[in-house]
Amino acid sequence: MRVVDLDRDMNDVIPTGTTRDSQYLFDRMTAETLALAGGGPGRRILDVAAGFGQDAVALVETGASVVACEPSARMTAWAQLVASKREGPRPLWLRGWSDALPFRSGSFDAALCKGAIDHFDRPEIAIEEMARVTRPEGRVVLSIANFESLACRLARAQDSLREGIPGASARRGRRHYDVPADHFTRYDLGLMRAQASRFLDLEVVRGISLGWGVPVWSRGVGKLPGAVARGALQALDSLARRAPEWADVIVLAGRPRRSARTAR
Ligand SMILES: C[S@@+](CC[C@H](N)C(=O)[O-])C[C@H]1O[C@@H](n2cnc3c(N)ncnc32)[C@H](O)[C@@H]1O
Repeated sequence: MRVVDLDRDMNDVIPTGTTRDSQYLFDRMTAETLALAGGGPGRRILDVAAGFGQDAVALVETGASVVACEPSARMTAWAQLVASKREGPRPLWLRGWSDALPFRSGSFDAALCKGAIDHFDRPEIAIEEMARVTRPEGRVVLSIANFESLACRLARAQDSLREGIPGASARRGRRHYDVPADHFTRYDLGLMRAQASRFLDLEVVRGISLGWGVPVWSRGVGKLPGAVARGALQALDSLARRAPEWADVIVLAGRPRRSARTAR
């Protein structure tokens, strides 16, 4: 039986803006993904699993024409409602699954998928589809949470140590290194590379943010003066950029490879 996600909302997603390091991670992930997709007048861009549509709207504001493709009726309705309150051009909203994108081959200059591929039940077909609908010299951009990040490893090790101490209380609830219930795949750098490079000639493999969710770091950076905190977050971010296997999020971008399917 195919299990799908038509009624989802954002309850299982990391809450944005609750801590400084969360906000930084989300802002950087968005900025990097959109920059690699490349907005601008005349560009045709597809946002796959567009969710609430905030990225599609940001790209439309650059002058690009954008299709926001999303299967959830609830999220699409919300995205349309919010976008209807603003002036100017809007994305084209379309309900559709990532593994059967309703577009001709080569229709877009770029296709992006941010923070969503781990929700897909057929992620490899989704990447193949993104490659198919992107023109040969265009770009596919994927940004994905890394569940083998340095932060996940440290937090896991810290919890195991704590659980080994006689009398210490066990941690309760989902930890940030636990894969949420609505994810189908637990990604790390190796798996991302392996799946993406089947369908893309990878040009960019980049890490974003380091240390997100490690309790002592999250609390500490929240208490620092603003400029110092920003400097510290940026310093770790530039380390992550060069060491994506440690990063909290990984962004991959590449040109479509021609395969029997993508050439259709
Ligand atoms: C965490 S949200 C990310 C939304 C958006 N890209 C963002 O960055 O805010 C994951 C999205 O994937 C969508 N989704 C889940 N399974 C899907 C599938 N098989 N094909 C396309 N979208 C899917 C969900 O409906 C949801 O909108």
